[in-house]
Amino acid sequence: MRPIGYVRSPYGDPSEVPRGLGATHEAEGALEIRAEFEPGLADIEGFSHLIVLWVFDRVEGFALTAQPPSDTRAHGVFATRSPQRPNPIGLTVVELLGREGAVLRVRGLDMINGTPILDIKPYLSNIPAEHLRRGWLAEAEERARQ
Ligand SMILES: C[S@@+](CC[C@H](N)C(=O)[O-])C[C@H]1O[C@@H](n2cnc3c(N)ncnc32)[C@H](O)[C@@H]1O
Repeated sequence: MRPIGYVRSPYGDPSEVPRGLGATHEAEGALEIRAEFEPGLADIEGFSHLIVLWVFDRVEGFALTAQPPSDTRAHGVFATRSPQRPNPIGLTVVELLGREGAVLRVRGLDMINGTPILDIKPYLSNIPAEHLRRGWLAEAEERARQ
């Protein structure tokens, strides 16, 4: 795989991205797509939200368990969003604010400036909220409320 573009983000370092229970991701920035791939953006303006697949390019190695900042307990890496995973691929849903040519202005970034983008897809959630289970995160949120 090769990057289709790069993230322009206000965050310069992973430590600057808000983390933990209650963290919100409102940061605005851009997805700068390489000119050769611009035709692939045709009709993307009609979607309010996009799934961005990207590379955790500032991590080395992985661990099969991770203790997320939102919990005091460790979990299997595939039950978390830890950057240290066997294939360091990140997934972020962003709001599409506008498009200028090959540049998509977006809100909701949790990746740092210069992060390579692997792919973009329209966000189409069709799972009713009442069918979603949030696993250990719901338990961690409940403990934090007590
Ligand atoms: C917990 S991960 C979740 C990322 C994505 N939403 C996901 O679910 O795959 C978010 C963290 O990744 C780190 N991060 C952001 N950009 C990165 C990069 N290019 N390389 C390594 N770590 C990065 C930041 O510390 C940020 O807090």
